[in-house]
Amino acid sequence: MADLLIRNIKGLVQVREAGIYRVAGKAMSELPVIEHAYLYLKDGLIHAYGSMNEDPGIHAAEEIDATGRFVFPSFVDSHTHLVFAASREEEFVMKIKGASYAEIAAKGGGIVNSARKLQQTSDDELFERAMLRAHEIIATGTGAVEIKSGYGLTTRDELRMLRIAKRIGRETPLTVKTTFLGAHAVPAGIAQPDYVKLVIDEMIPAIAAENLADYIDVFCEQGFFTVDETESIVEAGKRYGMRPRIHANQLHRSGGVQVGVKTGALSVDHLENIGDEEIEALKKSTVMPTALPGAAFFLGLPFPPARQLVEAGLPLAIASDYNPGSAPSGNMPLMVALACIKMKMTPEEAINAATINTAAALELEHTHGSITLGKVANVYITAPMSNIAYMPYAFGSRVVDRVILHGKSI
Ligand code: NIG
Ligand code: FE
Repeated sequence: MADLLIRNIKGLVQVREAGIYRVAGKAMSELPVIEHAYLYLKDGLIHAYGSMNEDPGIHAAEEIDATGRFVFPSFVDSHTHLVFAASREEEFVMKIKGASYAEIAAKGGGIVNSARKLQQTSDDELFERAMLRAHEIIATGTGAVEIKSGYGLTTRDELRMLRIAKRIGRETPLTVKTTFLGAHAVPAGIAQPDYVKLVIDEMIPAIAAENLADYIDVFCEQGFFTVDETESIVEAGKRYGMRPRIHANQLHRSGGVQVGVKTGALSVDHLENIGDEEIEALKKSTVMPTALPGAAFFLGLPFPPARQLVEAGLPLAIASDYNPGSAPSGNMPLMVALACIKMKMTPEEAINAATINTAAALELEHTHGSITLGKVANVYITAPMSNIAYMPYAFGSRVVDRVILHGKSI
């Protein structure tokens, strides 16, 4: 019997009864904490928890004393592109010298550059490089992650990316959900309408035949894919059981949010460029608005209007967007810090956004995102700290001290 008891926890964070699957509006500021707590994990699941004052009388094969430390449910990172061949720091330097994201893309940099590199990299190399990133995000507290394709841009290479993403799920303790993002950019040498047709007629059926993708995504943006193309592509994915999630409103008010609402997307992600119309559309839907503060920070874009979204009564999720072009970090404590510092979210709101709400966005609400009886035993123990606000305050510091996934110390 594999079991683990954590005792003398200064604060057990995000404790929820079963049945609470996402938080919105004012409820985002409530983060339930049990002070001076214990947590008992057994057979990979959360088995019991409570106050140390009601002595549980439990003993376990492994026991950890967490005096002075907090225990949080692992982060759920609902938006990454962590399978890629190579970093792109040369573009980073171009950006420092004044080039915009769109200008770099127009010069054959950007996504197409990553695709060229990926096409020349073997499966084993790609897997090894992605594994390093997977271990890196495990160490900073992530327990479940969404991984997109979109740096293949040929049927063969999109399939390769998704197989590698699935393999990460098999060979690490991470729970992995996969998303087909063939419509990330149009590669050189093919006309836009022909590429859209290739995505719909060839890629989607091939991916579905191997059951490689849970979701379908489109980069709905000027210079990438139009609203109409987005709609046709995600409707085609839906016919094969892939629910949509959309890259929406990153660089322009592209109509991405509205097409996400119209097609029943699980989430619309980015939202740097939204206003009242997009907020009104979101209010009539169950789509999870998702901010990617690392990308806004790295590209120097305006941050999504978190206060306006929350004050409109909406939920908000936060993910990393880990990718080589716009967000070369999958560090979720840093994303929480950016959400607090740049988007004026409170620490409680930001932690809800990065746990329970991202779990909902990945349809993992029954198993991840909170300390709830029967959920997967994915938690981390912090460094000693006096208050949960220390995490975003001490941005860039190592606050995640010890990681436990499926009830096992990593
Ligand atoms: O989410 N916006 C589109 N895709 C990525 C960036 C991709 C890249 O530049 O490689 C993003 O920011
Ligand atoms: Fe992205």
